[in-house]
Amino acid sequence: MLNKPLSRRDVLKMAGVGGLGLLLGGGAAGALFTGTQAVARRKNVLNAGRAHRAAYPFYGEHQSGIITPSQNFLCFASFDLTATKLDEVRALFKKWTTAAASMTQGAMLGNESTNTNPNLPPADTGEAAGLIPSKITITFGVGPSFFDSRFGLAAKRPAAFPDLPKFRGDALQPQWCGGDIGVQVCADDLQVAFHAVRNLARLARGTAVLRWTQEGFQRTTAAEPTAGTPRNLMGFKDGTGNPDVNNAAQMKQVVWVQPEDGASWMANGSYMVVRRIRMRLEVWDRSTLDDQQQTFGRYRDSGAPLGARDEFDPLDLSAKDEAGKPVIPLNAHSRLAHMEGKTKLLRRAYSYSSGLDLKTGQLDAGLMFICYQRNIKQQFIAMQEILAAEDKLNEYITHVGSASFACFPGVAEGGYIGDRLF
Ligand code: HEM
Repeated sequence: MLNKPLSRRDVLKMAGVGGLGLLLGGGAAGALFTGTQAVARRKNVLNAGRAHRAAYPFYGEHQSGIITPSQNFLCFASFDLTATKLDEVRALFKKWTTAAASMTQGAMLGNESTNTNPNLPPADTGEAAGLIPSKITITFGVGPSFFDSRFGLAAKRPAAFPDLPKFRGDALQPQWCGGDIGVQVCADDLQVAFHAVRNLARLARGTAVLRWTQEGFQRTTAAEPTAGTPRNLMGFKDGTGNPDVNNAAQMKQVVWVQPEDGASWMANGSYMVVRRIRMRLEVWDRSTLDDQQQTFGRYRDSGAPLGARDEFDPLDLSAKDEAGKPVIPLNAHSRLAHMEGKTKLLRRAYSYSSGLDLKTGQLDAGLMFICYQRNIKQQFIAMQEILAAEDKLNEYITHVGSASFACFPGVAEGGYIGDRLF
């Protein structure tokens, strides 16, 4: 009894408050509350919480958080290893696996005994007690530095995972770059997401330390129940041209590393690139609507390509106006990023706002650009080289942070994060 894991609801029960919700979702997602317990809890479900109830499974063929529809919030954490032995790293990944599997299902870390002993710090930090899982996903990857001489893994580094080159216009600041391990936590509740990062960092004490973190947001699904394409801080719909995550063949082609791609330990995983891109919002806000639309090659209101009507109409890159000029300018972001339809990646970006730049008094705000792909060289690097050189959007943005991570395939039950690499 004392070793029974605590669901976050049990904490409320112990406190005499009563349950609020029910976990729903596929696979292991519904496993915590079953049978009569579930029926009893269902009666207590509040309608207001309906949109946030589902839990995503932690175990599976692929990690959750990659083709999973974007949740409302992001808490990104980059860690550096302080450990010197591979065994210590393996032990950390095992601990993180247990913790992530619990947290994604809304359970407390530790058990009843380790959370109620008055003489010890509780195993779980407690700020998510009583909260539903809020669709949290925790996605793990390792950076290029993971394959340096420390752990003897250099020979395992995939060819599809090279260092990112310095792109034209980069103004990278070390405090937003790199990391041995990257963890993307997304959830419909920021406190739930923060709780995960904090507890992973706590479990890592003595093995790894946080290097940098960044929170991100977008409009919540409560604010837009139709779940249309979210707008970025420049006011434009962002994500329209993404490949369809429900198209399994396309996901195989664009996102999931295939067995024939080389590094067999990465099969069913994906490579992530993170760029912290600051927007010069004060300058953008002074540019005309026409200039803004020419920058993206799309209408701000509808998100449709210039010259078209609906958001999802194809880009007509050959259309000319009466003066013979391309309707979608040659340096428009959408045109260039479209790569003539030949190169795609899956974007999963969030807006960020981190207070003021005290030197200039301007907002430190922009886009936490995150993308997933099968081959960083052929996809992100190829695309960013063109954008860095030609994109009209460069007048308004600066890349200030950069990192890349090889995100492992999903963990099988009984396994642990990265077990195929070790
Ligand atoms: C602050 C920086 C950025 C902003 C504000 C931004 C915004 C946008 C917007 C508004 C669109 C049009 C709607 C859509 O299709 O989603 C778009 C399209 C796209 N962007 Fe970006 N983007 C940024 C950076 C990047 C970067 C760094 C890359 C990749 C290297 C990228 C790749 C793409 C792709 C692939 C498309 C779709 C093109 C197509 O229609 O095929 N974007 N972006």
